[in-house]
Amino acid sequence: MLGWKRASSLHGVPWLCVVYLVCAGWSGPLRAAAAIAAAQPLATAAGLEVLAQGGNAFDAAIATAAALAVVEPAGSGLGGGGFFLLHHHASGRNIFVDARETAPRAATPTMYRDSAGQPGSRSSRDGPLAAGIPGLPAALAHLSGRYARLPRTVTLAPAIRYACEGFTPGARHRRLLAWRQTVIRQSLAAAQVFLVDGMPPPAGARLVQRDLCDTLRRLAERGHNGFYAGATATKLVQGVRAAGGIWSYADLSGYRVKVREPLQFQYAGWQITAAPPPSAGGIAVGQSLPVLDQLHWAAQSALTRKHLVAEVLRRAYLDRQRYLGDPDFVDIPLTRLLGTAQRQSWLRGLRPERATPSAALGAAAAVQEGDNTTHFSIVDDDGNRVAATLSVNFPFGAGFVPPGTGVLLNDEMDDFAAQPGAANGYGLVGGAPNAIAPGKRMLSSMTPVFVENDRLVYVLGTPGGSRIVSMVLIAMLELTRTGDIHAAVAAPRYHHQFLPDRLEYEPGALTHQEQRALMRLGHTLKSAGRRYGDMQIVLQHKRSRRADAASDPRGEGWAAVQ
Ligand code: DON
Repeated sequence: MLGWKRASSLHGVPWLCVVYLVCAGWSGPLRAAAAIAAAQPLATAAGLEVLAQGGNAFDAAIATAAALAVVEPAGSGLGGGGFFLLHHHASGRNIFVDARETAPRAATPTMYRDSAGQPGSRSSRDGPLAAGIPGLPAALAHLSGRYARLPRTVTLAPAIRYACEGFTPGARHRRLLAWRQTVIRQSLAAAQVFLVDGMPPPAGARLVQRDLCDTLRRLAERGHNGFYAGATATKLVQGVRAAGGIWSYADLSGYRVKVREPLQFQYAGWQITAAPPPSAGGIAVGQSLPVLDQLHWAAQSALTRKHLVAEVLRRAYLDRQRYLGDPDFVDIPLTRLLGTAQRQSWLRGLRPERATPSAALGAAAAVQEGDNTTHFSIVDDDGNRVAATLSVNFPFGAGFVPPGTGVLLNDEMDDFAAQPGAANGYGLVGGAPNAIAPGKRMLSSMTPVFVENDRLVYVLGTPGGSRIVSMVLIAMLELTRTGDIHAAVAAPRYHHQFLPDRLEYEPGALTHQEQRALMRLGHTLKSAGRRYGDMQIVLQHKRSRRADAASDPRGEGWAAVQ
């Protein structure tokens, strides 16, 4: 049965946090001012630890992200990247920090195609050739330089401690490690860290990451240059090149985060702030919500609500394939995609009583689900907010660690379109705007958002590959309809992504009656076979600053208030 979880196991959580846990767990409406929801209890604990030392939401975000890099290596890390959506209360500004990986300078559009021109090889997913230039360390340095109150030596301290002293990974880590072990075994440095005698260690074994501990220390002491120059950069480049990769020192020294304007739009009296490109998610929800509003979504039957969501997602994913890529490389017709004419054209074709076959909308492959990446949400008592979705793409990224760094590299290069029309690991069919080019950022589904009105704000996001967008859209619709963050993280999920032309659903998300009715409307249904996603939501009342937090019952996370 779906339920919600206010707190997860106490395993490995410092005693200080038990106090918070008791506050968070059982006290009904919470009289608290700061809140953190993250996918791993030790990461939430890291954020709480720096809040307790006088840090703000940005300090807590640095601590939480760095801790996740150590305690949830399947999902994100220093070798990966992500998006930080910020609200800086003092200036009233919403800011999007784009720390997405970039293609190395030696990358070419055809680098993952075989001699027959087909994108057949695994090299975009496994090993050093799959890795884009990491963005997370740059983001941590950026947040620390612009917004933090505490020095990095304090905000990175919990992560350094977890790496040096070790922690006990949970069941999810062990499951994903078993799935990626063949790839990890091919990287000696990765195997030395994550495997024992070439095999996943038994339950209860401690994971100590000494090289990562030293890499984190250099980042804490020297900031940006502690990762992108000096000893860490030398080891990263030498390790990648010795194993057949194409990184250069210039790739690392040239990496910068991009500060972008978030997308802003209205829905049913709510102000939405969402990730702009190279996220495809903000545009998709920005296109979908006004159309659903015009169709009086909230007043429809439960069945019609699901049908309409599938229909808008179908259309949004077609636009994604046709128009979206790195905004620094391609002209994205944002105004047109989010404008009235486009809305009217969707509304003209959209039938409440009939599914539109994707083939009738345009030409454009198979979905695999992701179970990696990570999201956390934070608010502090000053009214600052952070929604961060971070990733190494596949579980344990490329499975490759450059010797002496402890840094597991991402395989985000697979998020590019290796060939227009070919599907990536999430079954997403890529278009020319998302072709590989040196220095370019690959399109992403990661969608951190704020949903607010005059009284309150929700901060949310989730991992889940191509399904991130549908999960965020469904949660936004639930939050604006019911206001219940615990129900929103637990809400049953379903998904459509244009191709393959089918409505996927979590076991239990559709009743038998709904399944039959949706098929009668023309939908092809497919069970996802398991529940997916790991959503983290915090809520804050603007005047009282009371806060609450919810962590997805599907995951192992911890939602806490302080
Ligand atoms: O940026 C993206 O869209 C993907 N690299 C995210 C991957 C992901 O969410 C995997 N897992 N749950």
